[in-house]
Amino acid sequence: MMSLFADELPWRFDLVPGAVVLHRFALHEASGLLETITAVASQATFRHLVTPGGLTMSVAMTNCGQKGWHSDAHGYRYTTHDPLSGKPWPDMPANLRLLAQRAAQEAGYPDFHPDACLINRYVPGARLSLHQDKDEQDRAAPIVSVSLGLPAVFQFGGATRQSPVQRVLLEHGDVVVWGGPSRLFYHGVQPLKEGAHPDTGAVRYNLTFRKTC
Ligand code: SIN
Ligand code: FE2
Repeated sequence: MMSLFADELPWRFDLVPGAVVLHRFALHEASGLLETITAVASQATFRHLVTPGGLTMSVAMTNCGQKGWHSDAHGYRYTTHDPLSGKPWPDMPANLRLLAQRAAQEAGYPDFHPDACLINRYVPGARLSLHQDKDEQDRAAPIVSVSLGLPAVFQFGGATRQSPVQRVLLEHGDVVVWGGPSRLFYHGVQPLKEGAHPDTGAVRYNLTFRKTC
């Protein structure tokens, strides 16, 4: 007999106007996404970037797509080539692009054409402090975020650093889309708790799809 766990049923939740959590939206394709991450990382390895202020980030990152996000002493920016290898960033595989487009559509953004996918890797203790995604020139397009592996507490605030923050547990297969009036809202990830996920071990991955220009 098939058993259905309430936990695995999809539901949606509007954080603020323009921002929605699509619970378990990517669950059934998660193993394919993880294989794709491994393939991308074999071409463009995960690395701990350094902020313009000289701090090494606890989250390890890589990218696929026409553009990739990079940070160093000169600032935050998108590049066409991986500064580590000098090669173009790996192409964005179709399964990633299509998932991002379907999630954006579901959230009310039917014409999403991402040109960058930032891949974040968190181990226990890794975190992302409150920030805005503002290195993209195209502010009409939303951000689509896909979570895989260990759960993490996502913080979603408002237009200023002082705005009240909502906290949502993002689990394996969850997707968050924010755009429109919430496109530049502050967000972050609390330190990842210890744990072991059957598909990733002690790791959380997050994919964020962006339209940079
Ligand atoms: C990000 O803000 O770029 C990533 C968010 C996350 O890891 O959930
Ligand atoms: Fe972000």
